Amino acid sequence: MLLLYLVLAWIPYCLAAKRYLFKTCDQSGFCNRNRYYASHVEQSPYSLDSASCRFESGALYATLLKQLPNGSPAQFPLKLSVLKDGQFRIQIDEQTRLEKNINLAREQSADIVRKERYNEAADWALVSDELPLDTSAKFVPSDSKLYIEYGPDHSFTATINFEPFQLSFAVNGDIQIVLNENGFFNMEHWRPRPSNTSEPDPNAGLYESDTGKWDESFGGFTDSKTRGPESVALDISFKGFSHVYGIPEHADSLNLRSTGEQGEHSDPYHLFNVDIFEYEVNSTMSTYGAIPFMQAHRKGASVGVFWLNGADTWVDISRMSSEAGSDTHDQKVLSASKTTTLTHWISEAGVLDLFVFLGPTPKDVYRQYSSLTGGTLMPQLSAIGYHQCRWNYNSEEDVLEVSAKFDEHNIPVDVIWLDIAYTDQVKYFTWHPSNFPHPQNMLAELDKSKRKLVTIIDPHIKIDDDYFVYKHLKETGTYLRNSAGEQFEGECWSGHSVWVDPFNPDERKYWAELHALGGDFAGNASNIWFWNDMNEPSVFEGAETTAPRDAIHYDGWEHRDVHNIFGMAYHSSTYDALIARHKGTLRPFILTRSFFAGSQRYGPMWTGDNAATWDFLKVSIPMLLTNGIAGMPFSGVDVGGFFDNPSPELLTRWYQAAVFYPFFRAHAHIDTKRREPYLYDEPYLSLMRDAVNLRYAFSPAAYTAFYRAHTEGMPILRPLFVEYPDAENTFGVEDHFVLGDTGLLVRPVTEENAAEVQVILPDASIYYDFDTQEVFQGPTKITVQTPLEKIPIFARGGHIIPQRHRERRSLELAKFDPFTLVVYVDENGEAEGKHYIDDFKSYEYQNGMYAYKDLLFKGGRLISQDVEGHQPNSEFLDSIEELVIEKVIVIGLETSNLSSEALIKENGEESTAEIIINSKGSSSAASEILIRNPRVSAGGNWEINLL
Ligand code: GLC
Repeated sequence: MLLLYLVLAWIPYCLAAKRYLFKTCDQSGFCNRNRYYASHVEQSPYSLDSASCRFESGALYATLLKQLPNGSPAQFPLKLSVLKDGQFRIQIDEQTRLEKNINLAREQSADIVRKERYNEAADWALVSDELPLDTSAKFVPSDSKLYIEYGPDHSFTATINFEPFQLSFAVNGDIQIVLNENGFFNMEHWRPRPSNTSEPDPNAGLYESDTGKWDESFGGFTDSKTRGPESVALDISFKGFSHVYGIPEHADSLNLRSTGEQGEHSDPYHLFNVDIFEYEVNSTMSTYGAIPFMQAHRKGASVGVFWLNGADTWVDISRMSSEAGSDTHDQKVLSASKTTTLTHWISEAGVLDLFVFLGPTPKDVYRQYSSLTGGTLMPQLSAIGYHQCRWNYNSEEDVLEVSAKFDEHNIPVDVIWLDIAYTDQVKYFTWHPSNFPHPQNMLAELDKSKRKLVTIIDPHIKIDDDYFVYKHLKETGTYLRNSAGEQFEGECWSGHSVWVDPFNPDERKYWAELHALGGDFAGNASNIWFWNDMNEPSVFEGAETTAPRDAIHYDGWEHRDVHNIFGMAYHSSTYDALIARHKGTLRPFILTRSFFAGSQRYGPMWTGDNAATWDFLKVSIPMLLTNGIAGMPFSGVDVGGFFDNPSPELLTRWYQAAVFYPFFRAHAHIDTKRREPYLYDEPYLSLMRDAVNLRYAFSPAAYTAFYRAHTEGMPILRPLFVEYPDAENTFGVEDHFVLGDTGLLVRPVTEENAAEVQVILPDASIYYDFDTQEVFQGPTKITVQTPLEKIPIFARGGHIIPQRHRERRSLELAKFDPFTLVVYVDENGEAEGKHYIDDFKSYEYQNGMYAYKDLLFKGGRLISQDVEGHQPNSEFLDSIEELVIEKVIVIGLETSNLSSEALIKENGEESTAEIIINSKGSSSAASEILIRNPRVSAGGNWEINLL
């Protein structure tokens, strides 16, 4: 026992990232050089050659010149374009490399390594390479500057200063973003490798240090930098903004912290996808995914930038006081805030490709960003249900028993997951011969309750000449190569392995064959969904736990060029495979661990290997909120914590928070105790069941929120500043959130033994305690008692929330169940909401097979009508005839003038429904009116009159 105690006591101290495996900025040559540059630059050596300006098809082309200490200036072709939805794009390449007019440092790689700067990140991240231009943008050149007026009513202005090269962006004359204001813009020009790299580089640029330009060693690995130093960096100032958000994935705050010597973190935020085993909270260390999108927000203004670069990237953040009303190139910074946030973006390689979004509201920024990188995948309804995973369910019997236990305890579950042990020796697309001998029987059994089974498929492929996947990769050479052009080998779950190269079109074709029904993956069925893990890619004992930067991909790009895109390329190859598996008729489900801008189009992500601690529960909220605003809202965390065993209290609180996670999966490490909710005693079991049931009750509202994420890029879980953009006291709040358009404001309990929590009700709305219907008048801050059964949820008056109240074993079984509409009225007795319905699984909604309703409550009447521009077709309406509204509940309405029956009008016919006034018992609770069984159609246009 003593020994056991000692081992257990030791565990928390073991859980810390192995920092020594990862470079700090100081240890990373290009980061170090750019910080050095930033602290030494006096005058930016870059200018725009005005004679080179040329306007063509709505874009400006010009050459930037970089003054060098020796010789003539280096040339950098520049393209500026204004896009249809008010986005501004800046692209800069390097002439010498573009012309391939360089010698590689390693002669032997000349045949296999490309010489240009990597220029294909946009092909992976953007939905289209043909972005529509704003043809009404006005270009006004002068001798030393160029003005571009664009955006709504030409309220946006971009001012390009020629010397030094600088760009500023204003909205109605108020400068909000300035590029290269501090002169940190730096593109390391090509130069030959000096014969002696320990001597100063004779071809160095101004303010350039010599750290790590050529062979760079770290952790026993040497990176042969055959193209030499090629980093790209820029400072982006957000004028008058003290709050900046985004650049996931970090286990850190929502409002990003300052970095550097004066900052709260010494290292910049790092975007370099790695398998960060036992990661730490409150850290700028990189984790599994990278989205180089940042938003700045203040009262009256919201802006964003998207640094489209897939290489290793660092972002320094500092706050400076700036005088309101100060001048920057003739225009004024009008903002009242005296703080400017200065950010410094540094990438190892690639072209510069930057998008600037001027909002002016958060919603505009998300639309501007998502119209470039795509909305989130519209999931099948079951995908937003509850997912039960662990490493591992050991056999077919085990899987079916878990499924049966959920039924026995009346807890719904939609998806059961299989981790790596379902395979034969971690050879993906095979089954463990004795534990999973008849997968098709297990799948058929699960299908009886419309449950899905997820199988994990990772990108490492076991080296075994008898393994068909390896054989294929070897024969076709469609794997990742090492710097000598041979198969790259390393270790992962499958032991000694190679890695697929998802950038290779032939490999992607093969990947689709592997996923085909009736193909080599025995038992494959349409209720098998997928999990793509370890796709940073994770290479055990590899340099910084991943593939070497000088490994080579399809078409001669180095791994350094595409590192952060690898995970998305892999995820998208599985997505394409599943689209092919069902000929485009079923929406795929593939969970990914690694991600990049654009990954939202392929499926959800989760935050990897967290631990069963209160800190990880707490940080899950800012992490998911950050993903949501960076366009990747379909996200979740391992509920309960991956490592270690949660206390029943922690697990219960985690389920309560996860009611609202866009993706809700319980998962646990192989060494943990089983923790399916039905294994717990009361009250935990019932409270976890209640949490899952609450999620299922909200599923119509969540599904509607997904539709908005899909079509408009709106976050599903929204930070308060998004819903209350003028309430300055909410801009730093990261422990509250709002679910979609429901107005439901939630402050999950993330503290142990919390007897109470403080809840901010940010504006002058009426708020209703979700459980007691007690009424609060905002703005205010209240103290809420939080016994274990309490989830602090407040409904903001003025909202209508579509729900489903029947209990089912899975969401798919509920798909024809009737809905309940819950109306929380505002101080004028009014409310509104939205409800989206389709067939819950196919792409037919793209052919008009859906209904999208505006629900309005006013003057005692509830009206359902089509959202403007969204008329359902009659075929769809016929197909959902059974889908009716079985209850309407109106909360907070003055009850004295009510009729005894509600009068209903639909399709020219009139009917009535009973009205019942419920009392909640307490005098401070709002009234509750129930309209029983109005049976109006969920997809139809109708009205229900209560007066
Ligand atoms: C990684 C994943 C984890 C999974 C394990 C085994 O650690 O993050 O979720 O259980 O690999 O596949």
